[in-house]
Amino acid sequence: MVRMVDVILKKRNGEVLSKEEIELFVEGYTNGTIPDYQASAFLMAVYFKGMNAEEQADLTMAMVNSGEQIDLSAIDGVKVDKHSTGGVGDTTTLILVPLVAACGVPVAKMSGRGLGHTGGTLDKLEAMEGFHIELTKEQFVKQVNDLKLAVIGQSGNLTPADQLIYALRDVTATVDSIPLIASSIMSKKIAAGADAIVLDVKSGDGAFMKTMEDAKALAEAMVAIGHQVGRQTMAVLSDMSQPLGNAIGNALEVKEAIETLQGKGPKDLTELCLVLGSQMIVLGGKAQTLVEAREMLEEVMANGEALRLFGELIAAQGGNAKVIEDLSLLPTAKFEKAVQAEHSGYITKMEADELGIAAMLLGAGRATKEDEIDLAVGITLHKKVGDYVEKGEALATIHANREDVAQSETLILKHMHIGANQVAPPALIGEVITCSEEK
Ligand code: URA
Ligand code: CA
Repeated sequence: MVRMVDVILKKRNGEVLSKEEIELFVEGYTNGTIPDYQASAFLMAVYFKGMNAEEQADLTMAMVNSGEQIDLSAIDGVKVDKHSTGGVGDTTTLILVPLVAACGVPVAKMSGRGLGHTGGTLDKLEAMEGFHIELTKEQFVKQVNDLKLAVIGQSGNLTPADQLIYALRDVTATVDSIPLIASSIMSKKIAAGADAIVLDVKSGDGAFMKTMEDAKALAEAMVAIGHQVGRQTMAVLSDMSQPLGNAIGNALEVKEAIETLQGKGPKDLTELCLVLGSQMIVLGGKAQTLVEAREMLEEVMANGEALRLFGELIAAQGGNAKVIEDLSLLPTAKFEKAVQAEHSGYITKMEADELGIAAMLLGAGRATKEDEIDLAVGITLHKKVGDYVEKGEALATIHANREDVAQSETLILKHMHIGANQVAPPALIGEVITCSEEK
């Protein structure tokens, strides 16, 4: 019989683990027969010695098999899911769901709330009064078959192993391990029933991965796992050194998503949605090439079809679809304050994470799971890296439900750097990572 101590020793010595050994760890830790101290030692060994692609795939599937899996086979077509590694003001999911669905790819989206500078996709949707994210399995499947799209909260007991292991990693300094992150993310996507997966892997100040090299390594690891377990997976590397789009805050981001679906969104956010959306359309089998897919997306944006479908989603899930033509139906904050530039010059740098904190301090995000968030508050940015600003001109507008916003204002002034020389904005889209055998 394999003992956990031998599995730890083997990994500590840098050897490759078998599927059975990895399952022993995942099953034992999930059912409580392996104690925290052995699991901690094991995770630290993985942190230092790594895992090859096959071990990562085995770890992923062991976590998938630790709980329920969503069966989406009753939905016609290739179910393509999208995952972003997270950033500041990332509104892409709200836009991509109707955009891709309008091109005929079914979108059965399970989303989270999450911690962070602003709420998750579910919180943003709930910024629309009446919108509910609880559907039964039958309602979910029917809605996707009828309308091509639905967004629900995570239900069921998906990947309990990942939840337990993640909580342990959090307190044993083993979160930032690429094999552990990659298997954690992929296990959740696979358990949620995705046939194909498009990953948006961000790097920069506002992202989990601070450097492009780390982001690329994470992307390659996740794509390799997808390939190993038979789910077509590809990743786009994108910039998160400055916030994406102009809005940071829940209702503000819904407004921005609607404007983007109307074709009037910020350039960077629109571009990233078209790039990710094109990959989803190709994986979903609705276009042969990325060029063809992009034309389809641009068309449903221009002819209003994607926006109309967003309205149908809202109506089907209890909200007021009129919001797509009347943005004043969204919650608004009591106070607005312009943050004025202290001198003239070019924006040279915007620290996304600090601007995210400025929004969180207003109440837009959660620091702990129990925190209530204020859906109306946040920040709209009027300048991005490379733009010129006059002294006294507004860099950003703070939307708040209290008068004292000094702390957020100070953060914005400090972290929107102004210099004498113009700098080029950071490249939004980096490499696209596909499995070498699929190229
Ligand atoms: N996000 C996840 O879901 N898992 C990780 O391990 C890290 C980030
Ligand atoms: Ca945004």
